[in-house]
Amino acid sequence: MKNLKDLYINYFVSKGHTKIPSAPIVPENDPSVLFNTAGMQPLIPYLMGQTHPSGTRLCDYQKCVRLTDLEEVGDKTHHTFFEMLGNWSLGDYFKKESIAFSFEFLTSILNIPLERLAVTVFEGNDQIPRDEESANLWNMHGIPKERIAYLGVEDNFWAAGETGPCGSDTEIFYWRSDDEIPEKFDKEDDRWVEIWNNVFMEFNREADGTIKMLPKKNVDTGMGYERIVAVVEGVTDNYASSVWIPVIKKIEEISSLPYKGNEKAMRIIADHIRTSVFIAADPAGIVPSNTDQGYILRRLIRRAIRYAKQLGIDINSNWEQEIAKEIISLYQNYYLEIKENANNVLKILVDEKNKFNRTLEKGLKEFEKIVTKTNEIDGLNAFHLYDTYGFPIELTIELATERKMKVDEEGFKKHFLDHQEKSRTASAGKFKGGLAGDGEIETKYHTATHLLNAALKIVIGPDTHQKGSNITVDRMRFDFNCDHKLTEEEKEKVENLVNQWIKEDLTVTKEEMSKQKALELGAEAMFIEKYPDIVNVYFIGNISKEICGGPHVTKTSELGHFKIKKEEASSAGVRRIKAILD
Ligand code: SER
Repeated sequence: MKNLKDLYINYFVSKGHTKIPSAPIVPENDPSVLFNTAGMQPLIPYLMGQTHPSGTRLCDYQKCVRLTDLEEVGDKTHHTFFEMLGNWSLGDYFKKESIAFSFEFLTSILNIPLERLAVTVFEGNDQIPRDEESANLWNMHGIPKERIAYLGVEDNFWAAGETGPCGSDTEIFYWRSDDEIPEKFDKEDDRWVEIWNNVFMEFNREADGTIKMLPKKNVDTGMGYERIVAVVEGVTDNYASSVWIPVIKKIEEISSLPYKGNEKAMRIIADHIRTSVFIAADPAGIVPSNTDQGYILRRLIRRAIRYAKQLGIDINSNWEQEIAKEIISLYQNYYLEIKENANNVLKILVDEKNKFNRTLEKGLKEFEKIVTKTNEIDGLNAFHLYDTYGFPIELTIELATERKMKVDEEGFKKHFLDHQEKSRTASAGKFKGGLAGDGEIETKYHTATHLLNAALKIVIGPDTHQKGSNITVDRMRFDFNCDHKLTEEEKEKVENLVNQWIKEDLTVTKEEMSKQKALELGAEAMFIEKYPDIVNVYFIGNISKEICGGPHVTKTSELGHFKIKKEEASSAGVRRIKAILD
């Protein structure tokens, strides 16, 4: 059979939809979440009423990462990365067409027998009426009444978040079992698995909880790719479907072990390497680190390494390259960034492996030593494993759980924070610092970011603010609000200002103060609500003051020479500069 992603896109394109590319996994300009967790997330502004450049009928497959299930990975159905197939109507069609499309795709394109399907619709509440319309539509297509269940808000109302677009939904279920299909749908029976969710997004939930009509009635649908492939191929283990077979085969080959009997470790390795490949290939330029997305990438790679070791794989061989290459070859035709960043991805994996390899063996020995002496791993020991051997706390907890032991997580946090205080890298309330800290080059880029921010305010205007930033050893990236493409002249002015300040050898100083005072001083602050009550403000001469966790250089002359490499659109009203220090 043709790849189901292609079947899906072809079908919806034939129904007048435009295929849009998957948005990056790391959301642009939304610091409140680490990763995109649903297909509709990048479309929220358009569901709220903004005009989408590709029209009113859209479809795509979106890369998603969900971390809530990280520890569950290893069973038949959980993944940290998955693809979500979605189609949208932005004020175009509504229930009738949406249900007709889903029905036709499932029964005529995927050839799923009607008798294996059931649906749920919204039973209504005091604000929104019972969804008889959807029920009738399903019934008209041949779904019998007993297989149409009316359920409440917990089951059949979907919201993007506490606030934002929301609406009642209709969910489609598939009978995944060889047992006789019961006449009536029962939501408690887990042989009925949900395969598709069509949300009729006609409301917006406001901050005070009230529900108002959106300017347009939209449809937002989501279907998990891994699950629908497993359903169509008739397997109950997602990792036994065509999505995973080549990867599992590769792991069998490398370990000289069969999948059967080694499922858990093989699934974890397969899943974690795949997610790592996608995170490392993302345009956000994530590398393993001790904060945010970088920390997740580190955890995934290190957890995969531990399970590879458990399978007896020679960690020093290029096993992770082999698996990653297999994954790259499976996805590169669907995601250009996977193809383009392949070499970089492979390098990130091997570098992180080498880093962890140096301490893993010794750390595991140390762990064994600790567990012979005690029956709870105290905070100091957990911190010692983290600080000296690079064991993410989650890894220590997992190892301990396998021994039916507990870890004093509070105690760990205390030692972690004490250490952070001492090493003076205390940051803006984020989980930061520790293992390796920021390198010399990254530190320079941090300071250059503040200079760039200050220069933009002079050249573009005082209302220009930072909207996002990302630093690697090779470059800095900076997003800011601005309604136009910078002219050559503007770019030159910005560069000259930054280089002038570097030459002036301005002193960088830090002062601790209350958040309130920092704001009164007019210090720049990107995510004010996220900072603790006491913050660090960095001053550069008298040209910049910013709330920041640091670290920074002490004199601007250390930065060398600043150069803008690229200036481009990032999203509506936001521009992006990539720059280097050479
Ligand atoms: N927003 C819905 C979901 O994530 C449908 O796309 O399930």
